[in-house]
Order: sequence, then C-alpha cells, then structure tokens
Amino acid sequence: MNISWPRSSLTSLVEPVVYIHENSIEILSPGLQSGGFALSHHLGMTQNLPSTSSVAGSAPVRAVDVIRKKRDGQELSVGEIQALVQGYTSGEIPDYQAAAWLMAGLLRGFNRAETAALTDAMLRSGEVLDLSEFSPKKVDKHSTGGVGDKTSLVLAPVVAAGGLLVPMISGRGLGHTGGTLDKLESIPGFNVNLPVQEFRRVLRGCGCCMIGQTAEIAPADRKLYALRDVTATVESPYLICASIMSKKLAEGIDALVLDVKTGSGAFMKKEEDAVFLAELMVETGERMGKKVVALITDMDQPLGVKVGNALEVEEVLEVLQGEGPADLRELCIELAGWMFELGGAVTSLEEGRQRAVQMIDSGRGLAKFREMVKLQGGDLATIEDPKKLPQARHTLEVLSPENGYVSAIACEAVGTACVILGGGREKKEDSVDPAVGIVLHKKVGDAVSAREPMATIHYNAEPRADRAKMLIQGSYRISGAPPEAARPLLHRVIRGSGGKN
Ligand code: URA
Repeated sequence: MNISWPRSSLTSLVEPVVYIHENSIEILSPGLQSGGFALSHHLGMTQNLPSTSSVAGSAPVRAVDVIRKKRDGQELSVGEIQALVQGYTSGEIPDYQAAAWLMAGLLRGFNRAETAALTDAMLRSGEVLDLSEFSPKKVDKHSTGGVGDKTSLVLAPVVAAGGLLVPMISGRGLGHTGGTLDKLESIPGFNVNLPVQEFRRVLRGCGCCMIGQTAEIAPADRKLYALRDVTATVESPYLICASIMSKKLAEGIDALVLDVKTGSGAFMKKEEDAVFLAELMVETGERMGKKVVALITDMDQPLGVKVGNALEVEEVLEVLQGEGPADLRELCIELAGWMFELGGAVTSLEEGRQRAVQMIDSGRGLAKFREMVKLQGGDLATIEDPKKLPQARHTLEVLSPENGYVSAIACEAVGTACVILGGGREKKEDSVDPAVGIVLHKKVGDAVSAREPMATIHYNAEPRADRAKMLIQGSYRISGAPPEAARPLLHRVIRGSGGKN
C-alpha cells in the first residue's frame, strides 16, 4: 500500500507553542482552547497520573463528535484527545468508535500539538516508572516494525551483559510485522505480563526484562495497539510516534535508540517517510529530556533468514552463539553500539560496537539471555536445545521457477504469509501459532537454479500453507543478472534537533 502522508496538517494550522522543560512538556495553542490551554506533565517518579477525561470548565466530550471532527480534517483539542484516550482505555468508548477515530486520524493526519497531546495522553494512561534505585544508566531500543526483525531479543541481554540496565516494554505482532512479545511467548512458560514489582525483581536479578504494555504501564497503547493491528490503522507516522514514545517514556529510561525501518517490508516504505517519523520521535523524546537517536535501517527484504515466532527465537540463539546470518548480527552490533554509547558505557560508537562483539563472542550475552528466560518463567531446556521450541508438523518447499539471481523480495508479502500461516492475528481475539513460519534459503543477490528451494514454509494447516506458498512464490523476483548495488543495511542516522549525520 502506498499512502501519501497528510503532512500539510503539520504546517497549515496555527502552530502551537510547545515549551520544552526538563522532563516536562507544555503546549500552548490558541487553536486548541479559547484563551489557550496548557498541558504540563512531569516525569521522573512512579505516579498514577490524575484522570482528566474532561477538561475543567469544558463541556463533556462525545466520541462521535471527536470522530466527526477528525474525519472532516479539523484539529482536535488537547481535551478531546485526552477524553478519547481515557474513554477508550477505561472501556467507556467501544472498539468501533475508537477504530473509526483511528481511521480518520490515519487518513487526515495530526499536527504537532495533536501528536504531542496524543503521546502525552497515552503516557498518562498509566504509570511512569522511577528506576532511580538502579545505578546503571537505563537504555532501550525500539523498532518501528519489520519482517524477521528479532534484534530486541539479542540486544536486551547483550547490553545488560555490557553493564547497562534494559527495561524493555515491547509489542505484539502488528499488521504484517512480527512482535517481540509473540516471539518471547514461543518459549514455553515465558511470562511477558509481569506487574511492575516483578518487572523490578527481574531487572534487579539480571539487568534486563522484556514485558508488554500492562494495565499499569501504557494501558492505552495496549488497547489501541491491538485495535490498530486488525483495522489497517498502523501506517500513520503520528500514531506510530505516540504508540512507541508513550511506552518508551513510561519506562523511566535515560536513553533510547530507535530503529526506523524503510523498504518494502516496513510501514514507511519510502525513506523520506521513515526520516519524517524518525524526526518526530527524536523530537518527542528529547522534549522529555531523553537522549535519543534514530537509525534508518533497511527492511526491503526480511532480516536474517527466519520469519515466525519460534523460528526467530532459534535464530536469536544462533546470533548469541556468535553465528547466525551476517545482516542480523551486523544490525545487532550497530544498535547495541549506539545503546552503549548513549548510555555512557563507552566513549565512542566504535567502542560500543566492540563491547557488543565482546558480549556476543564471550557468551556473556547468551548467559544473560538464559538468566532473563529463567527469571521470567521460561523453559531453559528450549534454550539449551532449540529443537524443543514449538515445531510445526509439516514443511513445504517453495521452488525457483527458473535459473537466475534473486533481484528483489517483496518483504511485506513474506510477513503477510507468516500471518496467514497463523504466526500473527487477523482478528483481535486470535491466538498465534508459535511454530509456523518461513525459512528463506535465498536472499537478494543470491544465485538460484530452476527448481531449487528458495524458501521452506513451516505449517500446521494445509489451506493456510497453500495461500502462504502463493505469496512467497510471488514475492521473489528472479533476474538474469545480480542486482547492481546492494541496498545498505544502515541508511542514515538522525540525531537531536532534526540533525542528520
Ligand atoms: N511499534 C509500536 O510499538 N507501535 C507502532 O505503532 C509501530 C511499531
């Protein structure tokens, strides 16, 4: 799908004044409320922020009016956004109204004040953690979503082994992309639904912990995320920014590395859209006093060779053992390098990369992964022997129709094939099948002979496998010559104030 983002709304409206204080944000906009309206939000302590579903002195907000206003391309006030988010989180606003509002927002866009207000309202839906009892710097990484993107599972233990604290709140599969939580849950017993006290206990025990949004932390994102997954309302830079940054700002971190994907398997297909999203998120994080960097990285073909929940855990273990596909290892080292650098564990990015390599090659990252799995209730036998992870009952090979070279892989189709196999959700209530997925034997640039397997589908239901096979077959483009130039894994780096390196 190609959406042209409604960016005009960023500049066509009366621009609000956004005051940036340390750990707080204040928005003043004549367009928002008569006489101006201020929203001030302070971070830094564990707090249950006050309920503000209606703004003092203003009339109660009706969901249908907010939907209509956004449908007609008008700017929403802070109060309207707060009321929508609060009402949906508490259950007063039903799924169908929230879905209509999300679709209106996706099609019409949001301006900077609305995006800030949405992020803030989602953040305020739960607690902001105070992790000051922990002396190491707290860092995290978040990806905008990809196919075969399993870097979080490598990074949390590697960076914790290297001396920093990694309190990671992740998401489930979204659209055609896989989700960290679904991958972790393919390890039998692994609990991603820990309450805050348990989250702290695991952090104390091993320096990293990976959970999902909870009733306590980012509950608004927990609900909106699940709804967006199945209502085709993911691909909005404003909604992605609010979703990611509300969770990340709730974690009590000092620094954040964002992996913003671009290419045929990303939500932002065009690099300029990825840069726009990256700048939006970097700006939001810095406004809240965090060190943030965004790496624009390639998602024009799956990352690594395994796509699917348990299959991806298997590949994570390969990387943690110093093996695994080169692209996955390289991206993990790059992202970990930035995490070490932003967290102040090293004095240069190059030293950060070296620290990551040391943590992998010495086995300390793998040992840390084991500790985390144990503390979160996972079955360690599956880590010792990945064949004990859930396995699909059947496999099916996808053969090349001709001799040649793989010149492209339609990456979104591979992700969709995995969802169709049962590795993702088509409805909110669906459970995922941890065992299914795809193993790619050929990637872009590889030579292939007629009838040679390009990929293997791991499946449990034949009709699903047939549909997935058609998608995978159609996703490979075979040419007579190899592609002239390989796309780089790292496209560019976006640092503070919209500055680019
Ligand atoms: N990751 C998130 O957490 N949220 C999004 O909207 C997209 C990717």
